[in-house]
Amino acid sequence: MKRTKIEFFEGFADLVKALPKPGAFLLVEDVEGRRNVMTIGWATLGVVWSEPVLEVLVRPSRHTFGLMQKAERFSINVPLGKLQKRLAFCGSRSGRETDKIEACGLRLLPGLTRGVWVIDGCDLYYECEIVHKTLVVKENLDRKIVRQYYPGDDFHTIYAGRVLESYRG
Ligand SMILES: Cc1cc2nc3c(=O)[nH]c(=O)nc-3n(C[C@H](O)[C@H](O)[C@H](O)COP(=O)(O)O)c2cc1C
Repeated sequence: MKRTKIEFFEGFADLVKALPKPGAFLLVEDVEGRRNVMTIGWATLGVVWSEPVLEVLVRPSRHTFGLMQKAERFSINVPLGKLQKRLAFCGSRSGRETDKIEACGLRLLPGLTRGVWVIDGCDLYYECEIVHKTLVVKENLDRKIVRQYYPGDDFHTIYAGRVLESYRG
């Protein structure tokens, strides 16, 4: 795969265009070597602690959550105008029951960072190292958002990833 490195902010418009639908792939391998892919629709990209940071939100009910809790790094893989059926599949099936990487025929390639994997065939990539995690706190959140997005109290954990590499595929 061809990889053209970019500044972390250069793909921002494309990232935001992919969100919230059809989304992007979050791929994680935990410290025990378990891998999973899930579709994300929400993310932020910016500067925190004077560093480029990409934040993703994962609900505790996701299989991915257990892996993220035991992971040091993750990748965000953004297809632009393609792989939409696979995004829908990875956003509706759980890695608890299905090996989505195999079922979707996703080809994983080693990232530029040790311990990070990426999905072949995407257009934009971020390799991230988890530097902070925090729960969305019901009491601190706009009540309308609580009602709309958390009827089941399934409050996301926000994972902040230092962007180590960003490139176009
Ligand atoms: C377009 C789209 C965006 C999604 N965004 C998120 C998200 O940002 N955070 C989240 O926790 N779940 C999100 N989901 C739901 C998960 O992808 C879905 O529950 C998935 O089956 C979880 O897989 P897992 O159990 O293997 O982790 C999204 C689903 C779709 C279709």
